[in-house]
Amino acid sequence: MSRRTLARVALAGAAVLMLAGLSGCGSDDAGASVAVSSGTIGVAMPTTSSTRWVNDGDNMKKQFELLGYQTDVKFAEDDVKTQVAQIQGMIDEHAKALIVAAVDGTALTDVLAKAADADIPVIAYDRLIRDTANVSYYASFDNFRVGVLQAGYLARTLKLSSAPGPFTIELFAGDSKDNNAGFFFNGAMSVLKPYLRSGKLEVRSGQQSFARVTTAGWSGDVAQKRMTTLLGQDYTSTRLDAVLSPYDGISRSIIAALQKDGYGKKSKPLPAITGQDAELESVKDIAAGTQGETVYKDSRELAKVAVQMADSLISGNTPEVNDTKQYNNGVKDVPSFLLQPVSVDRTNYQTVLIDGGYYTADQIEG
Ligand code: GAL
Repeated sequence: MSRRTLARVALAGAAVLMLAGLSGCGSDDAGASVAVSSGTIGVAMPTTSSTRWVNDGDNMKKQFELLGYQTDVKFAEDDVKTQVAQIQGMIDEHAKALIVAAVDGTALTDVLAKAADADIPVIAYDRLIRDTANVSYYASFDNFRVGVLQAGYLARTLKLSSAPGPFTIELFAGDSKDNNAGFFFNGAMSVLKPYLRSGKLEVRSGQQSFARVTTAGWSGDVAQKRMTTLLGQDYTSTRLDAVLSPYDGISRSIIAALQKDGYGKKSKPLPAITGQDAELESVKDIAAGTQGETVYKDSRELAKVAVQMADSLISGNTPEVNDTKQYNNGVKDVPSFLLQPVSVDRTNYQTVLIDGGYYTADQIEG
């Protein structure tokens, strides 16, 4: 977010605090003082099974409260119907705005038509909402770049540009219903494709297309089963050198499958393996040397962007964006604010995550 926007959010926060201190109270019929709220923001998150979404929800709640809003934060536990019902509930309760990280980006068309009928603006959070005109703005990261960073780590670690190879690799992608999954995969393939074409990288399973490598529900269990099958089929006499994994929860399950297969010993080291979200468990694995890399996306910053967008819309202003072309949702180009992701591995987790205040050294190494 630009300095200007940050300053605006900070100023708005200060103004609200001042108002609360001076005159932010009304009085009820009996003359007792009651807090004045700017209204409730509905925040629909996909699941509590990944700590990142829990943190995203917490960060938004805190930041909205600083601006004088209340929040209704709901988690759908990866169930589409549950999420639709939760959003409907927020509309029924006259939410001032909706912030939605979709379980299925294509399944919200009907419920968001109702939000539009009720004049409630909708912000797609992290994941684009598809097939509807009724999404006002998109707050996310540069998702193509996430994949570029993941594959860049693999290329660096295997020294693909100079080492003779060939090296073996297996590819994993996220949930096909999540618009981000294709962006991550395409970003990664933009780096890996030349090496796959030249034969320096070999996918022994032959499973290389996005459709063949997606992971339903971003599920670690699904990924673990697939990794186990691949190891049994294609790597009984050849070593696996690298795994493109799109997300930390999947990476940890892939590592579990590899360890069961005997990887992780001096004589048979683990392949280079990527991830995403800088989840605490995975950052510990990076410090311990099992997972190679993760892509850090600061959820505090993403929350700031979404909060700024909602607050601007409610106040009749225009939210700041920095991209208007990259994200077409099938109906329109959705104006977006995209933050930059950061690749984190053993060499920089201390500077990025500990010095950056995301985790304490004790949490990671203690
Ligand atoms: C994606 C998100 C990733 C990761 C994944 C699984 O939409 O961009 O950061 O969290 O979902 O939850």
